[in-house]
Amino acid sequence: MNLWLKHFADILSKITGGIIVRYRHFLAYLGESCIMEKLVKLNDRTFRIYKSEKEIIEAIRAVADKINDDYLGKRPIIVPILNGSFMFASDLMKELKLDCEISFVKASSYEGTSTTGVVSTLIGLNQSIEDRHVIILEDIVDSGHTLARILPAFHELKPASLRIASLLFKPKALKNPLTIDYVGMEIPNDFIVGYGLDYDGIGRNLRDIYQVVEE
Ligand code: IMP
Ligand code: MG
Repeated sequence: MNLWLKHFADILSKITGGIIVRYRHFLAYLGESCIMEKLVKLNDRTFRIYKSEKEIIEAIRAVADKINDDYLGKRPIIVPILNGSFMFASDLMKELKLDCEISFVKASSYEGTSTTGVVSTLIGLNQSIEDRHVIILEDIVDSGHTLARILPAFHELKPASLRIASLLFKPKALKNPLTIDYVGMEIPNDFIVGYGLDYDGIGRNLRDIYQVVEE
């Protein structure tokens, strides 16, 4: 009988011991994953996670809700500026409940006359936007130089209305008198990458947005 009891006690201690060890491993794993920062290295720079894919999608949904309200009964043309805005355009389009069209453009800059400075032409706009409601999509507005150069080219094409939606906006970096009608997220003046935005040509494929780590 004593032998049976001892055997039983042995088995019990093995089981509880195993559970405790597993529980400890689980706790260690949890701790590690909380503490461990999500870092990526792109060329010579390190970036840390800044906005998760979930936060980005939520911000895009909020922008889409406003556009859905503002353009009710209209048929806007969405014009994303390549390359950076391709992911934003894709996720925004999925949230629009309107009849809408999309036409991607690229801006090419050149020196204008001394009065016009640097100007941009639109490449790839393969349909008329005359008398149409146009929403320009940008990945990010930083100094606003890109938009300031592009806007005259849009106005020349005589749209019925012209608004700007930017996933990200750095208000402190803005150097042009621009109104961004729809802003996904306002961010500080730090360099970021991911979700369509690049660093030296790479990083556009990252699902989340990362902020540069100053070294
Ligand atoms: P802006 O002309 O200074 O407003 O900058 C516009 C363009 O610069 C954006 O469309 C981006 O392609 C790029 N850009 C500005 N800030 C960042 C950044 O923090 N990360 C990556 N690209 C950026
Ligand atoms: Mg851009």
